[in-house]
Amino acid sequence: MWDYSEKVMDHYRNPRNVGTLEDADLIGEAGSLACGDSLKLFIKLDGDRVIDAKFQTFGCGSAVAASSILTEMIIGKTLDEVKTITNKDIANELGGLPAQKMHCSVMGREALEDALKKYYGENSEEWKELELEIHSHDHPGNKIVCTCFNVSENQIWEAIKVNGLTTVEEVTNYTKAGGACGRCKGIIKDIIETYLKKNKNEEKIELTPTQKILKIGKVIEQQISPQLQKDGGDIELVDIEGNIVKVKLIGVCSGCKNASMTLKNFVEAELKEKIDNKIIVEQV
Ligand code: FES
Repeated sequence: MWDYSEKVMDHYRNPRNVGTLEDADLIGEAGSLACGDSLKLFIKLDGDRVIDAKFQTFGCGSAVAASSILTEMIIGKTLDEVKTITNKDIANELGGLPAQKMHCSVMGREALEDALKKYYGENSEEWKELELEIHSHDHPGNKIVCTCFNVSENQIWEAIKVNGLTTVEEVTNYTKAGGACGRCKGIIKDIIETYLKKNKNEEKIELTPTQKILKIGKVIEQQISPQLQKDGGDIELVDIEGNIVKVKLIGVCSGCKNASMTLKNFVEAELKEKIDNKIIVEQV
């Protein structure tokens, strides 16, 4: 028996937003019945804001829970906010998923991306720009690596990158690739090694001060702020001096020292992980 969080169990037993939307503006699909899991995500828009979402899934309890929480995560958000949601965010929102079930969160992210691709049009300039923003175009290619589960190089690369995977077993947990006949395991190993080598080289390239300032602003605006807004808070970037990032945390009462410390640590951890381990966050 897997060790599921209470939130996973709740969304599995009482899934939210199950069904279809007759007048959906977008439908995103991921997985396939032949591979054991599939998800169809229906999205209703008002302008560029998601006003309703429903899903149909065929899969295990974690697939139901991940799809259910994903609909809750996107309703009320603009597509600009929705596009930053990663599989890690879906799993975190559920209070975590067992390693062997992380592929369910990846399926949610892929359905979302499929919907965005359809919204902009696969060959449109908007989608190409968005894809560049989402993936930084550092993928090796779109060739199918695992024919048993129809998983491409891109999908494996993305799972490694977003979740920091370093072993074939982890890649199988997140994408299913390698989980049947095992013929693709050698290629998966090669992709991991290529990614790690590339990453190591990139680590040596220091960001210029201007690049760092721009990146800090972007991470705060596009990734940290939306997370804080979910709990009624927000963050304002006040100043950057070298590695000291001064921020104003909104929605935390002046007397709540613990909440304020927790938030500061959260922001600092995000910036350290995404940009530079030397970053210190100060609340002003
Ligand atoms: S080809 Fe990947 S498990 Fe069979």
